Amino acid sequence: MHKINFYSTILFLLSILVTACHHDNITINSGISMDTILVAKPPVGTPTTTPATPASGNVATVSDTVCFNTDILPLYVSYCGSSGCHDATTHKSGVITTDYGHIMNGIRAKNSSSSSYYTIINNGMPPRGSTQMTSTQIALIKKWIDQGALNTQCTNVCDTTSFTYAEAIQTIMANNCGGCHGTMPGSLNVYLGDYTSTKAYITANKTLFLNAINYASTLTTLQQMPPSAKMVNCKIIQIQKWIQNGYPQ
Ligand code: HEC
Repeated sequence: MHKINFYSTILFLLSILVTACHHDNITINSGISMDTILVAKPPVGTPTTTPATPASGNVATVSDTVCFNTDILPLYVSYCGSSGCHDATTHKSGVITTDYGHIMNGIRAKNSSSSSYYTIINNGMPPRGSTQMTSTQIALIKKWIDQGALNTQCTNVCDTTSFTYAEAIQTIMANNCGGCHGTMPGSLNVYLGDYTSTKAYITANKTLFLNAINYASTLTTLQQMPPSAKMVNCKIIQIQKWIQNGYPQ
């Protein structure tokens, strides 16, 4: 009796140890907690004297740091991570591009030319026939790698007083939706590749559109847009203001 209790206690302790080690490994391998930097940004809507960074279009930042969550992740999700390709479920060729840890499997910090998930862009991937990235988008990924490919997280990275299509909305759509909705006909026939079509789609489907970008719980997770991660609030606010104000061009 005593012996059994003794052994089961040892077994129990061992299982705790094993579970704990396992957890540590996951945290370290994902690299997320170690590389995360918070970049200070002005609060939403606060006028800023810093001009918008040209590379990222609508971003008014206090620093020149490329934000992983708002600038880079949306590009990898939109242009590579659609379902059937490199999302977590399909993971074609073992490649997943919908989170920092997996994207880093193909990135070497400060060395874009040996970063396979960079050099392959428009060079085989996205596949022919799919929307290709623009040179501005590719340059932004290179800049992020040159800066150390960190998991920079930004919360307030847009000037919500600026919401015309040309100044803000076009870039938001291109970077966050473009890979799947940027060429006709677009996923589920939703084409958001130019001003006229975007305005026409939203006018006809306003509630659905707003629910999709707000990740409304009334929708299925498949309908929450963009997939994988909700946009930061200030970008959603910019789009909402654009709609409320009659889609200024
Ligand atoms: C990685 C690919 C991908 C990205 C990026 C993406 N979408 Fe979609 N979108 C889809 C797919 C796939 C569907 C069809 C979902 C379904 O089966 O209901 C869809 C459907 C939609 C729908 C219609 C939902 C419905 O039920 O009719 C809207 C609206 C939409 N997307 C808007 C957006 C917007 C706005 C963005 C960017 C902020 C975006 N999407 C980014 C893939 C994407």
